[in-house]
Amino acid sequence: MNVPFLDIRRQYQMIKEEIDGRITAVMESCTFIGGSTVQEFERQVAEFLGVKHALGCSDGTQALVLALHACGVGPGDEVITTPFTFFATAEAIASLGAAPVFVDIREDNYNIDPEQIEEKITPKTKAILPVHIFGAPCDMDRITAIAHQYKLSVIEDCAQSIGSQYKNKKTGSLGAVGCFSFYPTKNLGAFGDGGMVATDDDKLAVILSALREHGAAQKGARAWELMNGRKNVCTAHNDTATGLYNPYKYYNYLIGYNSRLDAIQAAVLLAKLPHLEEYNAARTKVAAAYQEGLCDQVVKPAYATHITPCWHQYVVKTPHKEKLCAYLQENGVGSGTFYPVPLHLQKAFLGLGYAPGSLPVVERVASQSVCLPIFPELTEKEISYVIETVNRFFVERV
Ligand SMILES: Cc1ncc(COP(=O)(O)O)c(C=O)c1O
Repeated sequence: MNVPFLDIRRQYQMIKEEIDGRITAVMESCTFIGGSTVQEFERQVAEFLGVKHALGCSDGTQALVLALHACGVGPGDEVITTPFTFFATAEAIASLGAAPVFVDIREDNYNIDPEQIEEKITPKTKAILPVHIFGAPCDMDRITAIAHQYKLSVIEDCAQSIGSQYKNKKTGSLGAVGCFSFYPTKNLGAFGDGGMVATDDDKLAVILSALREHGAAQKGARAWELMNGRKNVCTAHNDTATGLYNPYKYYNYLIGYNSRLDAIQAAVLLAKLPHLEEYNAARTKVAAAYQEGLCDQVVKPAYATHITPCWHQYVVKTPHKEKLCAYLQENGVGSGTFYPVPLHLQKAFLGLGYAPGSLPVVERVASQSVCLPIFPELTEKEISYVIETVNRFFVERV
């Protein structure tokens, strides 16, 4: 039997008509950028998350850049984050000229260890960027309390956690800004790149919205005022007389980005969003079967009871990682190794000066973690086969 690590075709086949219908409607409208499809998707996601504003953007990486920029992170600043995440988390920080400061993770949920955050705070620290890795929410009470004490912004990386809950609140609604990715393999996946920023803060929403479209027009002018804390001379009525400023499209007030969500991606996502709860519930069933069926020779996830993960990944730990992955492959079971190199040891961050051994927990976890197939359309037979194969490995090969 072959069990793929992930098969996104199955989902498309099941809701093909809904998706194709929505894509066709966008093509017929010829409104490819912005417009009612994007707005409707934003409205529905805001409702789903329980936030006032949800703004589509080009991808999850750019969502992080927009959020950091809007929260005032810039050259010379420091942002505290986890080393156990996809590269984009720290790349977004570095791309603004700031330095990622890595804090070791907790052994039980693979998330940033809040108890080690305070010792890394310096006068340059501007924000904390927790990542709800594999869909398991971080200890947000502790993180937001520290942030409040030191007047830091909290930006949540929710690329893997759409629908996850922390004490009955959705991730992405717990900090200043929540950043989402709709990369095709995510729990809510587009047919290309896509992302979103979510916030309850009206001012941040204006700034985020302006930054994603070149800091232009009225929103750009208003965002400039909010970022600089004073009235923008450019928006004064009499200023239009010079011909240099005007609250319309080709007048720019901030150096922003082109990072919009396009309407075809929004159409796909609108078709999938009503199924998200059901998809996450199906993932939870797969995880429950693994929790029960897998032998105790692998270390299984042990999440706190006040969190509800969306099970983006199901990760086990074993010192026999390489041998287990090879055995799974020999027997037709796909597996993943997220993440083999913790970010503080990535060559791209050599300049930050972290040495091997400096963050011991993440280094051990990275050398032992194996991701097993988990997606809503996995069949019971496939789930049983994964369990049997993992368990057989420990009988035959260890
Ligand atoms: C934790 C995390 N952060 C950020 C990103 C970046 O998202 P995107 O690929 O949409 O730019 C990803 C996506 O892979 C991710 O998993």
